[in-house]
Amino acid sequence: MEEKIIIKNLKKEFYDEQRGTVLAVNDLSFTAYSGEIFGLLGPNGAGKTTTLRMMATLMKPHSGNISINGFDTIKDPQNVRKSMGFLSATTALYPRLSPREIITYFANLNGYPEDKTEERVEHLIEYFNITKYADTLSEKLSTGMKQITSIARTIVHDPPVLILDEPSSGLDVIVAQKIHEHILDLRDHGKTVIFSSHNMGEVEKVCDRIGVINNGKLLTTGTLNELREITGKYYMEEIFIYLVQEYETVKQKETGNVND
Ligand SMILES: Nc1ncnc2c1ncn2[C@@H]1O[C@H](COP(=O)(O)OP(=O)(O)OP(=O)(O)O)[C@@H](O)[C@H]1O
Ligand SMILES: [Mg+2]
Repeated sequence: MEEKIIIKNLKKEFYDEQRGTVLAVNDLSFTAYSGEIFGLLGPNGAGKTTTLRMMATLMKPHSGNISINGFDTIKDPQNVRKSMGFLSATTALYPRLSPREIITYFANLNGYPEDKTEERVEHLIEYFNITKYADTLSEKLSTGMKQITSIARTIVHDPPVLILDEPSSGLDVIVAQKIHEHILDLRDHGKTVIFSSHNMGEVEKVCDRIGVINNGKLLTTGTLNELREITGKYYMEEIFIYLVQEYETVKQKETGNVND
């Protein structure tokens, strides 16, 4: 398996008037491979979006490195952008354009071969069941319809790496399942998918590996079974709560004992 995402000692600080310096991402390192779905989990404010935005070249780290598909996000942002599709949790659609127009626009923007664009767009419209509202202005669409359109436009150029910030947020179970099927299908075609989620069932179902982050720090990464072994818990929900609330204290105590 090829290393497609390499993150090393990533740090990002923010300053705001009320809180002063906020260490949003604190010495984060992990690797994700081709043909892998990597889930990034963490409580609200843990640093997931900040990490994904730095991967997507929308924000610069204070220190550390990110390599995507062999390209460095600071030295070679253009090639990074060509190599990935990024779905932000706050992705806005052009209100005066329809899903068909938006998906086509992003195919062109990302350099998808012109002679194949129409076929690709029609395929995605059919695949995601967009047909009924494909020509409706996006300002008139429901939350879920907008989200599906956003996902379709994120993957339209068929990039090797997909970075999705809470892709299934606001979706009904049928559509969410469709998205899961699609993510699994992309994985089976060798793509690397990294996504953040608060949905533990979704994470159990689709992730090959899971990273849990809290206060900007990566607590641990592993397969579901590895996390079960580390925590002694079975369900992702229990594993998550344990990791976020107890794991660090337990680890500190253990280290303390070793030093004693
Ligand atoms: N532009 C900014 N200015 C100041 N602080 C920021 C900024 N962006 C993010 N932060 C802070 O960085 C921390 C991490 O935020 P981030 O959005 O990465 O969390 P998250 O894990 O995505 O949370 P959620 O699950 O709620 O989406 C938070 O404390 C947040 O307030
Ligand atoms: Mg977020």
